[in-house]
Amino acid sequence: MSDSMRGERVYLVAGATGNVGSGVVTQLLAQGMRTRVFTRDAAKVERWGDRVEVAAGDFQKPDTFARAVSGAEAVFLMSQSPDQQAFARLIDAVKASGQPRIVFLSSLAAKQPELQIGVLHKQKEDTIRASGLPATFIRPGGFMSNVYQWIGSVSTEGVVYNPMGDTRFAPIAPEDIAAVAFKSLIDPALSGKTFELTGGELLSVPEQVEILAKVLGRPIRCVDITVETAIENMTRGGVPAPIARAVGESYRAVREVRTFGVTDTVEKVTGREPMIFESWARKHASRFVSPVAQQAATRGQA
Ligand SMILES: NC(=O)c1ccc[n+]([C@@H]2O[C@H](COP(=O)([O-])OP(=O)(O)OC[C@H]3O[C@@H](n4cnc5c(N)ncnc54)[C@H](OP(=O)(O)O)[C@@H]3O)[C@@H](O)[C@H]2O)c1
Repeated sequence: MSDSMRGERVYLVAGATGNVGSGVVTQLLAQGMRTRVFTRDAAKVERWGDRVEVAAGDFQKPDTFARAVSGAEAVFLMSQSPDQQAFARLIDAVKASGQPRIVFLSSLAAKQPELQIGVLHKQKEDTIRASGLPATFIRPGGFMSNVYQWIGSVSTEGVVYNPMGDTRFAPIAPEDIAAVAFKSLIDPALSGKTFELTGGELLSVPEQVEILAKVLGRPIRCVDITVETAIENMTRGGVPAPIARAVGESYRAVREVRTFGVTDTVEKVTGREPMIFESWARKHASRFVSPVAQQAATRGQA
């Protein structure tokens, strides 16, 4: 990183190779912010070259995270682990490493105590609250990037298998979540806030499929399946049974219209309207047609 790009403050991005974290890194770099990325695999962040500082480590080893946090002004944090004790150790490591502000990627499901995924996110938020560290909580609804999980069946069969019925919800682009996270990282005044984020348009899965088919220029059939079948498919595909059941619960919540409407938080925080699904699909269409489509499919949904 050149000296001219270095600010005084350093921002740490965990999950930097993920859908949201990579967008946070992009926005920090675009603003010339000094950026440190946390990853288990340094090869995955080579695309940013010496524009970022690389902190190699693993959430399972809190000392590696503590080293990464050292000297950071603020930390973007996400966690997919169901292990709440391990998460608490991670927060202890942050606290012992200079008390930075935290911007935590939670979920709108944190408001749904009947869902395991909701409880997991809420407990992590509460662990951060109990730490006393200044924090912003970002609660998005379903990501547009969840459609990456369709890459395999779209490529091989021209089909999307849909356990969520025709309930409409407002999928959000990871780029918009990243934009809110970026603002929260650089602005201490946003500590203490909880941002509930959705995209700007209500769409059902069949409607998303129709738009994707238009963008890709080929027919895609949307086939309704039961939540139970979706859970079986996930476990057959190697997803651990408890996780498959938790994801299945979320599918059932959408199917039964236990969903949220549209919030205007993205526009309020960033000053611009959230991306619509068609624009997002055009931007990422190559993921559905490239030779590495199958590879991409394996890291589709969080
Ligand atoms: N999908 C949705 O609809 C939705 C809705 C609401 C909330 N969320 C939440 O959003 C988060 C997923 O965000 P995303 O889609 O941006 O993630 P993603 O694309 O699935 O990427 C996962 C990231 O986690 C990092 N990671 C995983 N295990 C790690 C470990 N042991 N140590 C260090 N880093 C680790 C990976 O880093 P490396 O591989 O580089 O180490 C990668 O950057 C989840 O917490 C999910 O619950 C998702």
